[in-house]
Amino acid sequence: MTQLSLKKIYSGKVRDLYEIDDQRMLMVATDRLSAFDVILDDPIPRKGEILTQISNFWFKKLAHIMPNHFTGETVYDVLPKEEADLVKDRAVVCNRLTPIKIESIVRGYLTGSGLKDYKATGTICGLELPEGLVEASKLPEPIFTPSSKAAVGDHDINISYAECEELIGAELAKQVKEKAIALYKEAAEYALTKGIIICDTKFEFGLDENGVLTLMDEVLTPDSSRFWSVATYQEGTNPPSFDKQFVRDWLENSGWNKQAPAPKVPADVIQKTVDKYQEALDLLTK
Ligand SMILES: Nc1ncnc2c1ncn2[C@@H]1O[C@H](COP(=O)(O)OP(=O)(O)OP(=O)(O)O)[C@@H](O)[C@H]1O
Ligand SMILES: [Mg+2]
Repeated sequence: MTQLSLKKIYSGKVRDLYEIDDQRMLMVATDRLSAFDVILDDPIPRKGEILTQISNFWFKKLAHIMPNHFTGETVYDVLPKEEADLVKDRAVVCNRLTPIKIESIVRGYLTGSGLKDYKATGTICGLELPEGLVEASKLPEPIFTPSSKAAVGDHDINISYAECEELIGAELAKQVKEKAIALYKEAAEYALTKGIIICDTKFEFGLDENGVLTLMDEVLTPDSSRFWSVATYQEGTNPPSFDKQFVRDWLENSGWNKQAPAPKVPADVIQKTVDKYQEALDLLTK
């Protein structure tokens, strides 16, 4: 990983955060890939760059819906030139916000933990859904299904809207829900014209120093969302996810017990994965 002269303040599963000053930070997307919540030993070359470009595309496209965390500066404004050259395609300068302590998930289709809950209770996060839905069914309307942010190593837990109100307050919960659904709707409609179904996605929001709700983190990338290809989508089957399918299939078949460390992934599987991330970027932005 690149050595920067700024002080590192956080290293997440995928991104590293560096302090610029009290108000601002540099967010650098690495090439790390996590599958089944374990970070693979081998990086996916250029993944950080591709994710950053996808995210930047959406931040810009959706800026009319709400403010985002960008300061408007480039990496050249905050780093010496040699360092900026190294990270220019995968780093962004953003305002340090106070994160809202829930994961704001929006689902347009039924799969994953949502499908599991629906099968068990007919609801997701307490929301009643029509009978007879199956794997990958399109929902009548996109739904807001918040989850609690789990501590490191734990899985997030779906919560009801009432629990969400308790956690962050009714006023804020309402704003978050409305904005999350508006962002999802516009993005999903656009992506569909490019051959991509955005099944579901997770947004992160924060408050700025004036308490204004602001979009932060990454937006509508294959890491924060499930992207399906329109071409292979079929209700009733589990559509292959756009990006991690090769890695996940390979890991599933390797006999790995899904505890760290993950086995070493062959070079051709890594290459196919890079190609899929690139394909998502190309489809969305060209
Ligand atoms: N503008 C911002 N202000 C404050 N925190 C931010 C901002 N944008 C992103 N973050 C935080 O930066 C981190 C990005 O790192 P990364 O996504 O790799 O973490 P992670 O391992 O997924 O952990 P987490 O579960 O917290 O997202 C996240 O914790 C995210 O909430
Ligand atoms: Mg994250």
